[in-house]
Amino acid sequence: MKTFHKKTELIKHLDSLRASDNTIGFVPTMGALHNGHLSLVEFGLEDADVVVVSIFVNPTQFNNAEDLEKYPRTLERDAKLLKTVSNTKIIIYAPSVEDIYEGNTVSEQFTFDGLEHEMEGAFRPGHFDGVGTIVKRLLEIVRPDFAYFGQKDFQQLQIVKKLVELNALPTKIIGCPIFRADDGLAMSSRNERLKPEYRKAAPFIYKTLKEAKQKFGTKSAKAVTEWVSKQFKKQALLELEYFLIADVDTLKPVKRKSTKKSYRAFIAAYADDIRLIDNIELN
Ligand code: PAJ
Repeated sequence: MKTFHKKTELIKHLDSLRASDNTIGFVPTMGALHNGHLSLVEFGLEDADVVVVSIFVNPTQFNNAEDLEKYPRTLERDAKLLKTVSNTKIIIYAPSVEDIYEGNTVSEQFTFDGLEHEMEGAFRPGHFDGVGTIVKRLLEIVRPDFAYFGQKDFQQLQIVKKLVELNALPTKIIGCPIFRADDGLAMSSRNERLKPEYRKAAPFIYKTLKEAKQKFGTKSAKAVTEWVSKQFKKQALLELEYFLIADVDTLKPVKRKSTKKSYRAFIAAYADDIRLIDNIELN
């Protein structure tokens, strides 16, 4: 399995692969890989001849210095895991901050038709400018035919689709289902940092989402939102940051339900000092 740390060398290698008619899939990650990431790589290998996996803890999308510092960095382990998926068809790109940003770590400012103001955008100022900046750079370097993003970060997925549309980039963005632990907790690199009692409490998030989905069949979004807030008040180890039911296209909170629209429910909650997010399709 080839690993590149420099974009110039990666670009040369990918150019030679393209010249012999190989299609290229791309899975951008921040490393500390888990089965959720690997499932994206597997989707990639179904569509493309080779899959580039980038591993880069992107400083511009963190709005909390401690979160950035504590983010796990496990390149050797990540490479071993990827080898179990394929030793020949995966290429790792693990750049330094300098290789990507060339001394300028100021984010580009984006507007994504308002998607950037909702949910994560409201609670993590600047986050989506950082995500937009890095994803645009990576797509320009890798120039993949397909790029895979998890629905775990549903707002990010919608924003990346918008980024590609607004910049007329030639990559097809593919959304992939949320990969969960056996107890329902959405896999996340941050889960590793949960203390045992918090790890045990965390599946409550998905359990509540499933119950909210059921209730949304007969109740208003407002009633479901109030119910969720009450459930979290009874759960001492988890602190709800937000729950909302939103239109999947605009990500705006639903006011009045319409059978013509698709909705998803979104949660962000703290388990101790670790922020967890999850979501579920409603209709
Ligand atoms: P990271 O959190 O490492 O996630 C990389 C990709 O894996 C994202 O598309 C994310 O949605 C997906 N993913 C994470 N957990 C998943 C799960 N349980 N099931 C399915 N997919 C999952 O998201 C980022 O990195 C960064 O913002 C990035 C796009 C790499 C830009 O820096």
